[in-house]
Amino acid sequence: MNQSTVYRHPRYYAIGYRWNTGVECDFIEACLSAHGPSTASRLLDIGCGAGRHTIELARRGYRVTGVDVSPEMVAFVQEESKKANLPVTASVDDLRCLSLRGTYDAAFCFMDTFRFLLTNEEITAHLRTVAGLLAPGGLYLTDFWVPAQWDKIGNEIHQWEQTEGGTTVRVFYLQHPESVDPVSQTFDDELVFVVEEPGGIREIRGGPTRTRLLLPQEFGALVGGSGVFSLRSTHGEFDLVKPFDRATLSWRMISVLQKR
Ligand SMILES: C[S@@+](CC[C@H](N)C(=O)[O-])C[C@H]1O[C@@H](n2cnc3c(N)ncnc32)[C@H](O)[C@@H]1O
Repeated sequence: MNQSTVYRHPRYYAIGYRWNTGVECDFIEACLSAHGPSTASRLLDIGCGAGRHTIELARRGYRVTGVDVSPEMVAFVQEESKKANLPVTASVDDLRCLSLRGTYDAAFCFMDTFRFLLTNEEITAHLRTVAGLLAPGGLYLTDFWVPAQWDKIGNEIHQWEQTEGGTTVRVFYLQHPESVDPVSQTFDDELVFVVEEPGGIREIRGGPTRTRLLLPQEFGALVGGSGVFSLRSTHGEFDLVKPFDRATLSWRMISVLQKR
């Protein structure tokens, strides 16, 4: 399976990725207030990872379901939500062929998880499946990397670090330029965690993971062509009043889709 081994370490993932969670959840709530069903309460987190949004939104009063292909991530979300006595359901599922049932007011797929859909066919099928899980007028929010400069395609590196308790996690996100296939628009990227704990330092190399380059215009065409969603807006930051444009262009594009 095309899986990074860092996803077998949910506790380190939870520390390394905690930085912007509150702002991202604020954005989800702002989208619900602006466009969502009037009494939105049921949310679906696709590729939920260690559950940073799932758990925060459950704390804010939503009923949240998280799905992820990694059993370790799912077990972690189940344990954390049980400890906090929160109304969360988490299960193993694959975004390329989701098997869960139910009806949700909004779904979201954050932090580049959407780019695991490698072909137009996978993207279209995924959009149709998600639309089938949404209530009328339901929202689907996506957030994935786009190149801020074209000469950086398949060539970006990002790094940051986060500390919680006595543990520091340094996250390195790398793209492997030699792996770029311009025909399929896919390339390998990789996550590396360097973890510093009282017991010592360890490095966890996730290994190359095949991902898709998805450009803004192309994404719009795929959403329109799916026949099930309208693309309401795109943003370069988690801020509804800031559109995705040359001024705000960043390394990520956040999109608000609404079920037709
Ligand atoms: C970069 S993490 C993002 C996690 C979370 N959305 C966040 O914002 O922190 C990507 C997650 O997608 C999951 N994933 C990878 N391939 C998947 C697939 N085919 N179906 C469902 N989840 C997948 C990984 O296990 C991992 O937890």
